[in-house]
Amino acid sequence: MAPANIESILHEQRLFQPAPAFAARARIKSMRELQALQQQAAQDHEKFWADRAREQISWHKPFTKILDSSKAPHYRWFDDGLLNVSYNCLDRNLKDKAHKTAIIFEGEQGDVRRVTYAELHREVCRFANALKANGIKKGDRVVIYMPMVPEMVIAMQACARIGAIHSVVFGGFSAQSLQDRIEDAGAKMLITADGGTRGGKIIELKLAADQALAKGCSTIESVIVLKRSGQTIPMQNGRDVWWDDVVKNVSDQCEPVWVESEHPLFLLYTSGSTGKPKGVQHSSAGYLLGTIVTMQWVFDIHDDDIFWCTADVGWVTGHSYVTYGPLAVGATMVMYEGAPTIPDGGRFWDICQRHKITIFYTAPTAIRGLMKLGDDIPAKYDLSKLRLLGTVGEPINPEAWMWYHTHIGHERCPITDTWWQTETGAHLIAPIPGAVATKPGSCTLPLPGIAADVVDEEGNSITAPNQGGYLVIKKPWPFMLRTIWGDEQRYLDTYWKKFNNKYYVAGDTAHKDEDGYFWIMGRADDVLKVSGHRLGTMEIESALVAHPRVAEAAVVGKPDEVKGEAVFAYVVLRGARPAGGVDEALTKELRAWVTEQIGPIARPDDIRYADNLPKTRSGKIMRRLLRSIAAGEAITQDTSTLENEAILLQLRGKA
Ligand code: PRX
Repeated sequence: MAPANIESILHEQRLFQPAPAFAARARIKSMRELQALQQQAAQDHEKFWADRAREQISWHKPFTKILDSSKAPHYRWFDDGLLNVSYNCLDRNLKDKAHKTAIIFEGEQGDVRRVTYAELHREVCRFANALKANGIKKGDRVVIYMPMVPEMVIAMQACARIGAIHSVVFGGFSAQSLQDRIEDAGAKMLITADGGTRGGKIIELKLAADQALAKGCSTIESVIVLKRSGQTIPMQNGRDVWWDDVVKNVSDQCEPVWVESEHPLFLLYTSGSTGKPKGVQHSSAGYLLGTIVTMQWVFDIHDDDIFWCTADVGWVTGHSYVTYGPLAVGATMVMYEGAPTIPDGGRFWDICQRHKITIFYTAPTAIRGLMKLGDDIPAKYDLSKLRLLGTVGEPINPEAWMWYHTHIGHERCPITDTWWQTETGAHLIAPIPGAVATKPGSCTLPLPGIAADVVDEEGNSITAPNQGGYLVIKKPWPFMLRTIWGDEQRYLDTYWKKFNNKYYVAGDTAHKDEDGYFWIMGRADDVLKVSGHRLGTMEIESALVAHPRVAEAAVVGKPDEVKGEAVFAYVVLRGARPAGGVDEALTKELRAWVTEQIGPIARPDDIRYADNLPKTRSGKIMRRLLRSIAAGEAITQDTSTLENEAILLQLRGKA
């Protein structure tokens, strides 16, 4: 789809100025202060970021080189510096904040645990020593497949402490997805748990891990298993060890391994427009810097804040705003293990009330889901401590924005709608709450030092307001991805090729309005956003086609009131199409199959069977047509090139 010059249809007029009481106390208090920072960045982009890096990171050896562009678009930042990310998150807080709470953990069953910075430091050191004792060294890959418990953070921080590269796999992914990621990363160790709890159900993590390891994953030498659910699980002698046992007799001191700025901190697999997820590789110093500056600028973090980002650590939001950002600025954060509706739809607001949350960050899909349950639910809770709200993951519709503003923020809290990606490491476009007036549905303005723009098919800046185009970043920034693990070519092709390596291409379409505010319109590629989670249509198609009865499949997104998009699959079977296009048993089987191949988030909501898929004469699947059919819209596309027009009736479920 060529998005350039699509006329924008959204015209949101409402403008919300920063509340004077908020601005007075904010780190950036006015548009004037923000513009001063933006000017510094515009005058000397590299110096701007070098100043931030010197001011915000505790270096073991300071860097002397700022940006190396000699192998662009492979950029290196602060190259000759040495640091340790875990030192920056823990040790440097010990002097003043040893007894400050770092993590307030709440389990779905209501169990609450508080961990201070001193305790977290000890636990991380112990686990880091355990990793070393199990043969993990700098540069080794460790896959983490765990529930949302403090040990997930401990495991990641321990890897960072010894220079091991972690790759977290979301606990909702299947054994097959776990296996694919372990094999791609060539991981030496897997850290998992007996099981996690979500939505009142046990997530069988160890069972899935065993399935993955039984089929392949030959690089895995050991598996560390945390006891969480308490259920009985098989342990394989010589391979599996309990977390409690490995930390038993080890020292609670562990000297950090000082690594180069560019040393990979982690890989995180994300979906793209091919069948195979890609391992996005982040750096140590640049990534850390991104999480710190955005905690300060966008979340306006203060020492007395209680910060809660609801994202699972299995996604990038949980990496940047659970594991790294809040700790690197010495904040207190909440981690919640379970679902927002257990025991009822008031759980989030109950947590906000009980733990006195001041900054709350969640996804539009959660807001829409909770909004549907009624205004009287949040009204039962004391939300007066909240001072700032945030959203991330997909465009927020103005209706949900207004509900959040009215019923959660009580018209007092600014809302920061943060645009970013797994690849960008941290927020790039977002309102700085003490300075930037907000418009419902817009992520507003790029942060200082972020050269975001909207360009046309030729790469020219689109200057006319409200004209859609490609969202690009025109200068490198410290927290950008470094490459795709093991696939340099894919890095170049996906993010750089379109505009001859000049601009980072985000894969989103966007437009700017008269005030220069950015509005994200959606993806330009075949990527879906289901409940804010990124899924490649090709990935789901390959999963479907792997089923013995499926010959061909095409997957598109269907607009969904709560999830944003739902998965809609068109399937051509080997052999005859079911009579009338209905075969409930097969549909059930295919849905379960996709769950098994990828995970429940990828399960198609609808499956339609056709004799053929609509293709152009040159053989391309007409995805736009399929999207219109899924959405139940009238077909406006030209269908004259269709080989067989009768197929349309089948695709619409009418034959
Ligand atoms: O399409 C954009 C959408 O989410 C994509 C990135 O997905 P992922 O890497 O999974 O990271 C999600 C969490 C950072 C983007 O390309 N997206 C993210 N934030 C927003 C958004 N779309 C609109 N508004 C946002 N605030």
